[in-house]
Formats: sequence, C-alpha cells, structure tokens
Amino acid sequence: MAKILLVTGTDTGVGKTHAACALVRALRAQGLVVGVMKPVASGCERTADGLRNDDALALIAASGRDWPYADVNPYALAQPIAPHLAAIADGVTIDTAVLDVAVERLVAQCEVLVIEGAGGWRVPLNERDSMAGWVSRHHWPVLLVVGLRLGCINHALLSAESIARRVPLVGWVGNRLPPEQAEWRDNVAALDQRLPAPRIAILPPHGEPDGADGFDLKALLSRL
Ligand SMILES: Nc1ncnc2c1ncn2[C@@H]1O[C@H](COP(=O)(O)OP(=O)(O)OP(=O)(O)O)[C@@H](O)[C@H]1O
Ligand SMILES: [Mg+2]
Repeated sequence: MAKILLVTGTDTGVGKTHAACALVRALRAQGLVVGVMKPVASGCERTADGLRNDDALALIAASGRDWPYADVNPYALAQPIAPHLAAIADGVTIDTAVLDVAVERLVAQCEVLVIEGAGGWRVPLNERDSMAGWVSRHHWPVLLVVGLRLGCINHALLSAESIARRVPLVGWVGNRLPPEQAEWRDNVAALDQRLPAPRIAILPPHGEPDGADGFDLKALLSRL
C-alpha cells in the first residue's frame, strides 16, 4: 500500500507547490513511483480539455508520469478565491467522497502519494467540511511548508498546534521565499526550537535544494 503525505503551508502562496514538486523529484531520485494530487484547486484556465490548474500540472510534470488529470485534480474551480466560494461560483459542492475515490485510484499505482492542500491547514471545502477535516478522517501524515517571512513563526506554531492535535505532523520545510529576509537563519533556529517535528529541508530562493540543505528523506519516510 502506498504511503500518503499531505503537504500544507502556513498560508496560501508560501511555496507548497514549489516544495511539493521538489520533494516529488527527490523521492523519484530514490527510485520511488510518486503519485500526485491537488484535490481542490481554485484558479484554473479554460482549455480544450476542460479546466486546468497550474499547481496540478506542475505536480504531474514533477512526477514524470501521465496521471489522469481528473484523479490528480477532481475539483478544478475557475475562480482564484477560497475553495468553498469558488465551488459556489461554479455551482459545485465539494464532496470528499469524490476525493477518496481518486485517492484510491492513485494509490493503487504508486508507492508514495504526495497531496498538496489548498491555502492553509484549516481552509473550508464546503459549509461543513474542511481540508483539515478530510485529512484528519484518514489520519494522513502532514508536512508543513513554512514561508520564511515576517510573521511565519506565529503562523507555523498555530498551524503545527492544530495539525498535531488531529494527525501526525511528520516534519516541516523552510522555504526561503523571495524577497529573502536577512534574518532567515534566525527564523529557522526559532522554528527548530519550537516546532514539534523535525526540519526536513530548507529550500533556497530559486533553484533546487542540495547538499546538507536537501530533503532528509530518511527522516521523512521513516515517519510515514
Ligand atoms: N524558494 C523559492 N524561490 C523562488 N520562488 C519561489 C520559491 N518558493 C515559492 N516561489 C514562488 O512563489 C510563488 C508561490 O509559491 P507556490 O505557488 O509554491 O505557493 P503555494 O503555497 O503552492 O500557493 P497556493 O496556495 O496558491 O497553492 C510562486 O510564484 C513560486 O514560483
Ligand atoms: Mg500551490
């Protein structure tokens, strides 16, 4: 049975896709077959094939496999707004049972399934349900991407507290988002001290992580 990992972030735009794609490439370099998912994407382009989302396409490209788009991204919503509002705008109700079917299809064909959340951990999916609710019902492990910018320590600690209450927080990734803070190392040290899970990587501004800053896949995989 494939291992499943949910990649969430301290906010929207902090580098979940950037980190998830780099992680997928690192896992593939270990010889693993990696499935990908962006289950709910708000902000899509209309194409001849239907609505398509950049994050989902980037994840598919990183995976090196031609996963069926409808399994990777069952809910492709047109408007770049909160998912539950984008769903209303498209006349759709997000049903996590539909997501479960897609997960089942993907895990049957991969060794690790990397799922990118939408926005941050508590983002609503419909009137009652949220990304946190769906992931928690499955008890899937979570990796937290921290965008290293002003305010990130508070956002990271709040996210970690809420995640760890529900599911295993297996690690965190520091993303040196441009424009880079001069004090990014001090932020990383503060997070190392306070977050209840190991640091798995620091992603440099632009380019791929390497050397000592590369993904600690041993630590990550041992916790999945
Ligand atoms: N380390 C980095 N170096 C350079 N650019 C980066 C880095 N991390 C993220 N970016 C850029 O910042 C933007 C936001 O990153 P990304 O799309 O990965 O965030 P996200 O958390 O996935 O956002 P969303 O909530 O929309 O899914 C993108 O344009 C991305 O290319
Ligand atoms: Mg993204």
